[in-house]
Amino acid sequence: MTSKDFLSIRDFSPSEIQYLLILGRQVKADPTGFSASLRRETLAMIFEKPSLRTRVTFDVGIQQLGGFSLYLSPAEINLGKRESVYDVAKNLERMVQGIMIRTFDHDIVVQMARCASIPVINGLTNYSHPCQAMADFFTIWEAKGHLEGLKIAFIGDGNNVARSLMFAGAQLGTNVWLATPPGYELDAESVRWARERGAETGGTCTVTNDPEEAASDADVIYTDVWASMGQETEAEKRKHVFLPYQVDATLFRQAKRDAIFLHCLPAHRGDEVTNDVIDSPRSLVFQQAENRLHSQKAIMLELMKGEFIKLPGLVELRELVHA
Ligand code: CP
Ligand code: NVA
Repeated sequence: MTSKDFLSIRDFSPSEIQYLLILGRQVKADPTGFSASLRRETLAMIFEKPSLRTRVTFDVGIQQLGGFSLYLSPAEINLGKRESVYDVAKNLERMVQGIMIRTFDHDIVVQMARCASIPVINGLTNYSHPCQAMADFFTIWEAKGHLEGLKIAFIGDGNNVARSLMFAGAQLGTNVWLATPPGYELDAESVRWARERGAETGGTCTVTNDPEEAASDADVIYTDVWASMGQETEAEKRKHVFLPYQVDATLFRQAKRDAIFLHCLPAHRGDEVTNDVIDSPRSLVFQQAENRLHSQKAIMLELMKGEFIKLPGLVELRELVHA
């Protein structure tokens, strides 16, 4: 792999992202087949924000691979206050074999990865949520049987989840549409990167303020909360701004008849999505949540086991992914 760490979808080549999806699929198909692969390896999980899915799937995932996890709460480490990121990294690299970190400032995970000799996995920052994007495309691939050329519409806030979805969509040759209220768009540099990568893979990235335009004829409708962790004080204001971007049955009907609905969860039902959409047969949100487990097992296997699994050639991968 290009990187010893998993910090951003951007850090990898398209074939490496495809490879991780394929490995995840193998892991899902053979739940006990890798049960000794990370025997006695320990993953330190640093959480500076709450979590259900990330915590449970990394914890269960490392156990299913034969290893252990340690949950380190904000009260225990107090990163950068009780102890510097450098000192935490230098301690942990002597005690554990991998670090998963969920924090606010993306620079913290970058710094941790630079200081630590062991793999560091981004479990969500204000900037990105790459593990989520892997599970998202894993789920879309399962549902649609291919990825290239699909129209994926993210409707809501130009946030961490939207950014990673856009990066992964560009890596995988899909057409990502982002519909946000004015002033809540993703930053221009991220969009520029996605367009450049898309030019190589056949993907596109379109930004709009019109949710109907984004949803029209889409294969996937995706949304996330309007106020992310750390933005609680803005929640009331955002409710008004984002109301026209609610994914309800009318908006969902703009998409293809077999379109699927995705949400990273947790969902605020009645805000960004209505119950009839999230509970509909075409909502795959719980399959998507389960796929966090399989795709993160693939990430841990690859990063913590190193050369264990060889990367096959690009052509072969493309055939597999897009078959
Ligand atoms: N989707 C996701 O990352 O969920 P948690 O915040 O519960 O980990
Ligand atoms: N955008 C959300 C995602 C939660 C998984 C947040 O950062 O709170």
